[in-house]
Amino acid sequence: MAKTALITGITGQDGSYLAELLRTKGYSVHGIVRRASTYNTERIDHLFADDAVTQPILHYGDLSDGSGLRRIIEQVQPDEVYNLGAQSHVRVSFDQAEYTADVTGLGVLRLLEAIRDYSQRIGQPMRFYQASSSEIFGAAKPPQSINTPFHPRSPYAVAKMYAFWQTVNHRESYGMYACNGLLFNHESPRRGETFVTRKITRAVGRIKVGLQKQLLLGNLDAKRDWGHAQDYVEAMYLMLQQDAPGDYVIATGEAYSVREFAERAFALVDLDYRDFVQTDPRFFRPAEVDYLLGDPTETNRLLNWHPKIGFDQLVREMVEADLELARQERTLLDANHLVGLKGIGNE
Ligand code: NAP
Ligand code: GDD
Repeated sequence: MAKTALITGITGQDGSYLAELLRTKGYSVHGIVRRASTYNTERIDHLFADDAVTQPILHYGDLSDGSGLRRIIEQVQPDEVYNLGAQSHVRVSFDQAEYTADVTGLGVLRLLEAIRDYSQRIGQPMRFYQASSSEIFGAAKPPQSINTPFHPRSPYAVAKMYAFWQTVNHRESYGMYACNGLLFNHESPRRGETFVTRKITRAVGRIKVGLQKQLLLGNLDAKRDWGHAQDYVEAMYLMLQQDAPGDYVIATGEAYSVREFAERAFALVDLDYRDFVQTDPRFFRPAEVDYLLGDPTETNRLLNWHPKIGFDQLVREMVEADLELARQERTLLDANHLVGLKGIGNE
């Protein structure tokens, strides 16, 4: 029997890669999409070009709407639930702290309770994956492992920490198969354009074709352990295929600064980042996470998971994709179609 998976956040970077992966494994894939006034399915539209049988089935829902989530769980009866939905931007969480706590924190409780009640009623267990985050290590000294104490530094990280413990609590209290994946930063050409790596590679493409003159960034010295989203969704899947549930750190074990990322990205198109990058106080955060470096040793052993795509390949793939996108924008502009960068300016 084919398994059924339900993905919240299917329209996001990770959701789109996870949907692709689960399809290749023969799953029937369902996804929760929040209603917006414009289409927000751009990252998964290609999945609807294929055979109707393998297309994901989408349901309107929102992590702030508990009764809607319950209804979807009852309709879909999934074997596995992947909770990837969140207000996921750290900087924005300082502006929308209460909303972030509701969606990124409480949303997990709503989902866990819906699963608990329905599973108990019909006697069918469901496996649950929570998209936890390295952000909850925050100010903790690197390298961070599953044994490192948490020290969150933003409303987002505090909400993710709450969600982490709710997930553990449902496992310990009700025997649910519920896992936390503490994923370090992972990127791709599908990364949202206001996260720093994509902001850089978008600018590289646009500067190269003459659509942008400079790039304003915040803290260039922050260090992150950057992997590729395609590798990381494989780890999510593996977590739900084990004999027992657990919590896992997913990371590459290598960290680079924002400055190093920019340096490499600009160099790939024969430009020097120092000629274009300027710092702007708008992009600094009230509290910064200076240095995230994961220790994935335990996970490598337990899940036999190893990332395949390294830092250089990641930067190259993102720059190549965004150079192509910028060329298309140039063509549109030359044909008198307006193109502009999205975002409101402090992300
Ligand atoms: P993303 O691209 O920002 O996607 C977030 C998804 O959540 C989108 O599908 C979004 O829908 C959806 N969403 C937002 N608010 C929602 C709400 N109120 N109800 C239901 N869905 C909602 O994030 P990502 O990079 O794929 O990350 C996936 C998850 O992993 C997130 O929980 C994130 O916090 C976590 N995480 C990410 C990283 C990373 O480096 N990427 C690392 C650690 C943890 P729209 O498309 O409509 O906006
Ligand atoms: N976004 C952004 N924009 N970040 C900047 C900028 C800028 O202009 N300039 C410097 N940075 C720095 C940030 O201050 C931070 O230290 C680092 O670049 C990375 O920022 P983001 O790419 O926004 O990611 P993040 O690390 O804050 O959060 C991401 O990773 C988490 C896992 O550690 C998000 O994907 C979270 O959802 C995820 O949990």
